[in-house]
Amino acid sequence: MHEKVQKIWPEINWIQNQELKDKTLDCWVYAIENSVLSAEDLEVIPFSLLIKDCKITFMNHKRTAVQLSVEIAKRMKKNFSDEIKIDMDLLIAGAILIDVGKLIEYDKVDGKLTTSKAGRLLRHPFSGVAIADRFGLPPEVQHIIAYHAKEGDDAKRSDEAIIVHHADFVSFEPFKA
Ligand SMILES: [Fe+2]
Repeated sequence: MHEKVQKIWPEINWIQNQELKDKTLDCWVYAIENSVLSAEDLEVIPFSLLIKDCKITFMNHKRTAVQLSVEIAKRMKKNFSDEIKIDMDLLIAGAILIDVGKLIEYDKVDGKLTTSKAGRLLRHPFSGVAIADRFGLPPEVQHIIAYHAKEGDDAKRSDEAIIVHHADFVSFEPFKA
């Protein structure tokens, strides 16, 4: 399973710290092992069940959000130099993990994908933090997961969480009805 996850998530290799990289990979392996979806499914299914005829796949959307996060961070570091501190490893790990909880938000009923009971009761920022904590991801990464979506709108997001939140939104809002 580790090889399969590395294949769908080449961006995991962008994490420099080996321990952080391993833990990020472990979260995805665990989530897929506990999901009705396979690693292969993620490269085929639409990223949202709520958008009609959505042709953007789950992995395309997620990888785009990670790639955008890194591009934004690099530009901000270049232009703002010492005025902003961005930890690239924490940013990348967080961006890769924001939707890891979604894997247990899905259910399959008569072969059709729906939202699971767990997904209805606890949205993926919560289940994502639980998975990240299980594998010992640092609080800075758990923070990015916890506050990446609307649940974080009233919170004070870290600089890394602000970047990931916006990168995530720009890679799905254009496709919303
Ligand atoms: Fe999300």
